[in-house]
Amino acid sequence: MDARTAIRNTIDQRGPITFAEFMEAALYGPGGYYNSGSPISASGDYFTAPTAHPLFGALIAVQLRQMWQLLDKPDEFTVVEEGAGNGGLAADIVETAAQLDSDFHSALRYVALDVVPPETQHYAVLPLAEVPQEVTGCLLSNELLDAMPVHRFQVQGGELLEVFVATEGDEFVEVLQPPSSSELERRLSQLTASLPDGYRSEINLGLDSWAQRQSAVLKSGWALTIDYGFERSVLYGPERTAGSLRTYYQHTLGQDPLLHPGEQDITAHVDFTAVDEAMSKAGFVSAGTAYQAEFLQRLGVHAAAERLRAAPLPRPQKLANQRGIEALIDPNGMGRFVVAAYSRNVETPTLLGLDPNTADSQDQLVSLPLLNPRRHIDLTGHQSGSYFEVPSFEDLFSDEP
Ligand SMILES: C[S@@+](CC[C@H](N)C(=O)[O-])C[C@H]1O[C@@H](n2cnc3c(N)ncnc32)[C@H](O)[C@@H]1O
Repeated sequence: MDARTAIRNTIDQRGPITFAEFMEAALYGPGGYYNSGSPISASGDYFTAPTAHPLFGALIAVQLRQMWQLLDKPDEFTVVEEGAGNGGLAADIVETAAQLDSDFHSALRYVALDVVPPETQHYAVLPLAEVPQEVTGCLLSNELLDAMPVHRFQVQGGELLEVFVATEGDEFVEVLQPPSSSELERRLSQLTASLPDGYRSEINLGLDSWAQRQSAVLKSGWALTIDYGFERSVLYGPERTAGSLRTYYQHTLGQDPLLHPGEQDITAHVDFTAVDEAMSKAGFVSAGTAYQAEFLQRLGVHAAAERLRAAPLPRPQKLANQRGIEALIDPNGMGRFVVAAYSRNVETPTLLGLDPNTADSQDQLVSLPLLNPRRHIDLTGHQSGSYFEVPSFEDLFSDEP
């Protein structure tokens, strides 16, 4: 069944559904976006850091090795990656670990999980039911939280109302109703800073249960989550009248999530204040945040770029690798993503990538990882001998209010 039909059937049976239910069905239900094909690729709708360049995973491997060292090099160090997609990041990390340090590599048990493991996988990606419990190590996620279903609300005549989805003929339409739950009301009451009429935005009510699940998985170690978003005061600033919900359809940024259910991605910026609160309630302690550019810089991105400059590679290959690395630290793009770290049952000496006193770390990589056409996107636009129009980052990602 396609997503459109599945959603229509639900609305026919139950009446209007919350936007979060619509988003859940459009992304993860039967015929849902993440249930069909491989959206994150040159021919898909968008790219992420692990697809832009393997250096992203390689430098995260450097960070993971430091965590293992801080824990006194346990015999087993488990990384649980949630929302692993096609396993590309997992493959890059495990390959780098093998080169970095054979003891670390032997200790590393990497479990990649996704709610819908895709058919094409670069590393074994398991369904969520396979999640291990009580591990020592690190819980890792890249662009997971932005893909969670959100509730939408709108200020109307001084009242905060929730956006529901109904049908009108063949179309899905929005209807405004009082909030569907007391939890949503509670979260809305935190935002009373006089918001103008017509103001709309989104709230992810799934963070608490996500954080609780994380606490059951991790006995001791860290959780590291990377995503686009802001602190609450910025995300819900009165000038951001249209919220941060975006759609991606064939490399094009859009804003109508009710169109093409199942065929387009729907995402919203992350409220990192809410992530902090949820993690703290679940027993984690903040271990710092950094922009992705700073994080990668402290782990050695510049030393790696220097190596690339000196490498005797054909010009197109060098250029493609340069573009990929630049994309990871682009201050107008992924460089501005937030890396948030939390610890649990460990002393928290500062992590290398989050230490404000580390400017640039020395080169720790044994060799420079290069783009692998099967796993990564050539951002100069040459892919498998053909050419595709690479979207600008503004096309793909815009956080302008
Ligand atoms: C935006 S994609 C990012 C994929 C990958 N991490 C990357 O950076 O390329 C979000 C992924 O999270 C998965 N996902 C969403 N909710 C999830 C959940 N609760 N648990 C595990 N995976 C989830 C989706 O199926 C999708 O593969």
